[in-house]
Amino acid sequence: MAETRVVLKNCGVIDPGDINTHVARDGFKALGKARTARTPDAVVEEVKASGLRGRGGAGFPCGAKWELASKSKGVERFLICNADEGEMGTFKDRYILQHDPFSLIEGIGIAAYAIGAKKAYIYLRAEYRYLLDVIKKASDQATAKGLLGDLVIEIQEGAGAYICGEESALMNSIEGRRGEARFRPPFPPTSGLFGMPTIINNVETLANIPGIILKGAEWFAAMGTEKSKGTKVFSVSGDVKRPGIYELEMGSQLKEVVVDLAGAEDVKMIQVGGATGRILPAAHLNTPLAFETVLGSGAVTVFDKSRDIIDVVYHTMEFLAEESCGMCAPCREGTEVMVEILGRLTKGEGTREDVDALQDLSKVMTLSSLCGLGQGAPIPVMDTLEYFRQDYENRISQSLYIRSLKGTVR
Ligand SMILES: Cc1cc2nc3c(=O)[nH]c(=O)nc-3n(C[C@H](O)[C@H](O)[C@H](O)COP(=O)(O)O)c2cc1C
Repeated sequence: MAETRVVLKNCGVIDPGDINTHVARDGFKALGKARTARTPDAVVEEVKASGLRGRGGAGFPCGAKWELASKSKGVERFLICNADEGEMGTFKDRYILQHDPFSLIEGIGIAAYAIGAKKAYIYLRAEYRYLLDVIKKASDQATAKGLLGDLVIEIQEGAGAYICGEESALMNSIEGRRGEARFRPPFPPTSGLFGMPTIINNVETLANIPGIILKGAEWFAAMGTEKSKGTKVFSVSGDVKRPGIYELEMGSQLKEVVVDLAGAEDVKMIQVGGATGRILPAAHLNTPLAFETVLGSGAVTVFDKSRDIIDVVYHTMEFLAEESCGMCAPCREGTEVMVEILGRLTKGEGTREDVDALQDLSKVMTLSSLCGLGQGAPIPVMDTLEYFRQDYENRISQSLYIRSLKGTVR
């Protein structure tokens, strides 16, 4: 099983501290082509035609978003690169930033040209502070060579909150407000940062742009599935022999990443897309990886048969409860209650009613939470209840037995 390295083609090949090594591999040719031979509208059209969808998790069509921003009125327009990468098990953006910051800077240059932004921000995860120098140097080298025109790129450091990867909380954070989700509409392309039309794109999304402009939308659209074009970079961790970063064509099977490349054995379940991602049993290893099936941010965490499913879901929920911004009640209270119930189940004190409550709460949170954190938090619960119901049943039977020994159940 071989990888298809498109976004990662320069990683490990160029020197991330020297722009000339990037230029020697056609670096910044796409930006030059866009600025000299294409109108901003034509660049947007090319990205639309490529079928590129956002790689940050939600998979929104990139070109459609750019078109909306480019047509929205505002004194200024902003571009934000989301390099917060707080999703559990996701470390692919770090790899791109560390090994090929130039493709990202070039993608930012093209995106800013397409939407008419003069200012771009890179919102960098607090824990990635050690990458600040390499990114700044890459941006400074591109500016010094006159490749970015009058575009100013500012790097904004996060402060360690998972919610600040969510686009509306991220904008609040840049504005100096609390990192809390905003009510929508309005959506960022019409009214985003400081009320101006704003595009927020993930690192991997933007790093895909130079290839699309240089080689054309058709080249990109020839890879992948009908609804998910191109490749995807996966961060693989957990019970595998070879954890790491793998890039495959969209539509590749989960088995190819997990077993063939990462060397997993004795798989019990796989969490795809991080804390709010899908959980699949080993029987689903033939699932194609695409937006229409499972994908999210590209985190693939493998759990072997020695793992306790309910324990995994409990710890995932603990993380989400800790990271909920508290802005809306369904998420703030719902995640806490789920932790309480799952905690009871892990301790062997759970009941059938607890499982019913988890199901009811899941529906409420999915329907009424303000952002993807609360809407996605029930997914690990619902998926494990679907695929590993017997594990929950066993826990309840054990707790009934323990309670009967203690004399609380007759
Ligand atoms: C709780 C939460 C955390 C998120 N964290 C990230 C993140 O770290 N990086 C990211 O690119 N997108 C993250 N997203 C998705 C962003 O809100 C947004 O959809 C994305 O940055 C858009 O870029 P894209 O269209 O290129 O994917 C998060 C969403 C939620 C709900």
